[in-house]
Amino acid sequence: MNRRNFLGSSASAVAGMHALSILDAVPAYADAMDQLQSTDVLMQRYPFALPALGYALDAVEPAVDSRTMSVHHAGHHATYVANLNRAIESDTALHQLTLRELLTRLPTIPESVRTSVRNDGGGHANHGQFWPLLAPNRAAQPSGALGQAITRDFGSLAGCVTALKQAGTGQFGSGWVWLVSDNGKLRVHTTSNQDTPISERLVPIMGVDVWEHAYYLKYQNKRADYLDAVLARLNWSAADTRYQV
Ligand SMILES: [Fe+2]
Repeated sequence: MNRRNFLGSSASAVAGMHALSILDAVPAYADAMDQLQSTDVLMQRYPFALPALGYALDAVEPAVDSRTMSVHHAGHHATYVANLNRAIESDTALHQLTLRELLTRLPTIPESVRTSVRNDGGGHANHGQFWPLLAPNRAAQPSGALGQAITRDFGSLAGCVTALKQAGTGQFGSGWVWLVSDNGKLRVHTTSNQDTPISERLVPIMGVDVWEHAYYLKYQNKRADYLDAVLARLNWSAADTRYQV
């Protein structure tokens, strides 16, 4: 092993130890994430599976057109799932880990598959939390603890939505805009590509896809119009269940 490889290996090992120590030191994060329902895609293990949309392709019209919904769910999301399964197929040790564990332990994942776990695993996790947010027969407002926390941290739901739109519009390139819980305090957050807040020890309450594939067929370059439409028809009851005081 030459010096460069040695230093790289050492850095990876230290990074892994550091990440685990952070996870151990944040019980509030662990507690919140332990509330995940068994049906959450974050609780899946290999072989990972595309969750059903749970509603018709045209159920979110006109905010999201049925062609975009079809390509997005059966095309993009399904590809992330297939690529993740292919990447870790031969590494049976990784089959023991849930998607949540894979994404919160990225620095310890073998380097040969780490990029796929980050991108394809992140894509599976991010889209898995997105579809329920668009479900029809929605709750137009958050309730209970989440509703109170939004008022506390943003002044109002409108203030929260405005902050989400501003951050989502400003996200450069592909990514996601999130409402996250940072030890109980809510804040808006963005991630690039398919990076996910759980890899940063943040609890995702809701995240909206701002990749072009989420809106380009209907909105072309008008991401702000897409965000207006989607943020106005969120199913807040899906987010309510993810916020634990
Ligand atoms: Fe997407």
